[in-house]
Amino acid sequence: MKGKSLISINDYTKEEQLRILEIAKDFESNPSQNLLNNKVVATLFFEPSTRTRLSFESAVCRLGGKVIGFSDSSSTSVKKGESLKDTIITVSNYSDLIVMRNPVEGSARFASEVSKVPVINAGDGANQHPTQTLLDLYTILQTQHTLDDLHVAFVGDLKYGRTVHSLVIALCNFNCTFHLVSPTELKLPSAVKIHIKEKKLAYYQYTDLNDVLPLVDILYMTRIQRERFSDPLEYERVKNLYNLNKSMLEHTKENMKVLHPMPRVNEIDIDVDDSPKAHYFQQALNGVYVRQALITSILGLK
Ligand code: CP
Repeated sequence: MKGKSLISINDYTKEEQLRILEIAKDFESNPSQNLLNNKVVATLFFEPSTRTRLSFESAVCRLGGKVIGFSDSSSTSVKKGESLKDTIITVSNYSDLIVMRNPVEGSARFASEVSKVPVINAGDGANQHPTQTLLDLYTILQTQHTLDDLHVAFVGDLKYGRTVHSLVIALCNFNCTFHLVSPTELKLPSAVKIHIKEKKLAYYQYTDLNDVLPLVDILYMTRIQRERFSDPLEYERVKNLYNLNKSMLEHTKENMKVLHPMPRVNEIDIDVDDSPKAHYFQQALNGVYVRQALITSILGLK
């Protein structure tokens, strides 16, 4: 993986993804290691973020490296009209690795083509979020002790949810059965479903969350993403359709875990948080270990 950008989850083979999870397990046991001495990681966030940016930065800090970058491009020369190409070429002269989130689909691939250093896609519009997928796989493995033959439900905004797109594609390597719960207008796009069909795996589509609760090992809740809707009325119509509360967990399997890439709005009640089935805060913590594994692998240090 040395020198290899990560833009789409399929840029890394199944074996490479599993290797990252293995290395992440080591970092979970020992997160503070001085491996990034003299290394500079740039975090360029053209869209808001809490977990992704700060867990990347925490990962670098715990490894003894330095972080440069921005969390708001309006404070940079982008505001004066500088192109993405010029920004990336410039920052790649200042750093050993670039982590970028950008609202434009395909922008991360473009950045990797003009950058002198590897680029990690931290989310490009509604397209992909491959590092979230690696931490989701890590979390699924942590809770189920396998990635194979699981029943996984995805709930909410399956059309615009980039974390869903990347994770569905990754889970196609593990013989999963997919339970897709969304309003009709927010169904999983055909471009993602084609990966399920190619592997001849089963998927079922629902509009009612209650239908899948007794069936699944992983319940992957997602936010309806207001910022992706061009029609505010359409958002208003679907924004409150799914709400998981503690009593609904009574109808779930013993091993079932609730995951959410976060942030949540109202799709998981706070009374779920103290259930042993709630695993979304641990999931966000796992992001540090998985990103430590990814950074050190790309920089050829692991
Ligand atoms: N999961 C995720 O991408 O969260 P942030 O938007 O807070 O980075």
